[in-house]
Parts: sequence; C-alpha cells; structure tokens
Amino acid sequence: MKLLVLTIAFLMLALIALGGSRSRKRIGLVSPEANDYRNAEPFRGSQVGNTLARACGDCHSNQTNLPWYGHVVPISWWITTHVREGRQELNFSEWSTYSAVRRRDEVESICGVISTGRMPPATYSALHPEARLGALDKEAVCVWAANEIGMKK
Ligand code: HEC
Repeated sequence: MKLLVLTIAFLMLALIALGGSRSRKRIGLVSPEANDYRNAEPFRGSQVGNTLARACGDCHSNQTNLPWYGHVVPISWWITTHVREGRQELNFSEWSTYSAVRRRDEVESICGVISTGRMPPATYSALHPEARLGALDKEAVCVWAANEIGMKK
C-alpha cells in the first residue's frame, strides 16, 4: 500500500515536471514585468487596460500566468493550445505591430465578444472568478471601444 502511494506520488511529480518545462516552452512564458502592454497605447493608464489584462491577458498577451494545473500533463496541452489560439486571434503584446485597420477591428470585436459573454470563455471564468466581468466593466469597455474607433476615423 505504501509502495503504491509512493509510486503514484512519484508519477504525479514526473508529470508536473514534464508538463512544467514543456508548457513554458510551448507558450514562451515571460516575467509579468517584461514587455508590459499596459504601458502601451491604447491601454496606458486606463481602467479598461486593467480590466482587459485581468479578464483576457492570460490568453491574449505574452504575459500568461499559468495556474499550477497548467503545468500538469495532459491539462497543460489543452491550456497551452488555447493560449496559442487566443494569441493568434488577438495579442495585446503585439498591438503596436497591428495596422490601424486591424486595431479598429480588434477594438470592435473586443466590445462584441465581451457584451455577448463569449469572452472570457465560460470554462476559464469558472476557474478564475477574478476574470468575470460585471455589467459596469462591460459598459466601460464598450464606451472605451467606441471612443477609440471614433478617434481614429
Ligand atoms: C482561456 C483563454 C481566453 C481568455 C481568458 C479570453 N480569450 Fe478570447 N479567445 C480565446 C481563444 C482560444 C480564441 C480563438 C477561438 C475562438 O474564437 O473561440 C479567442 C478569440 C477571441 C477573439 C476573436 C474571435 C472573434 O469572434 O472575433 C476576440 C476578439 C477575443 N478572443 C477577445 C477576448 C477578450 C476581450 C477577452 C477578455 C474579456 C478574452 N478574449 C478572453 C481564448 C481566450
């Protein structure tokens, strides 16, 4: 019995070790301070920048905070695939490389997916209560979006 428990514990540690190094490589984890997109336009100094970082930053920026289970195979595969897909669609850390047209589209979609509740994904907010957006947060994001779009006409 003791041996069985030890074996299981060992296997779990091995999976965590494997998942940890793999997932760091798969999504290129960087320190949160590095390359903080909240210092860049159009997020700088804005409450909306903080809201988006809190609710979307894990999947839509290079500053992903992986939870501990994000290092455990096979969950880590599922999570890192999501992060890669999310970044492909929209990556705040690469915002400055987007064309004016693309920025406009993204700002519009951000308001859209937030107000319909499509983002953040339900599976994510179930595990990250801090990422849930209230009615006021959503409204603030869409007001910001309208402003951003209006300014760049
Ligand atoms: C758990 C990871 C995750 C979080 C958190 C997340 N997204 Fe996404 N997002 C994705 C993935 C994966 C896709 C691509 C697949 C899809 O469209 O469902 C995506 C796609 C998108 C798209 C493009 C799709 C479209 O219909 O235009 C936008 C815009 C977007 N997300 C905005 C946001 C915003 C804004 C937030 C925060 C409120 C957010 N996402 C939070 C994973 C995430």
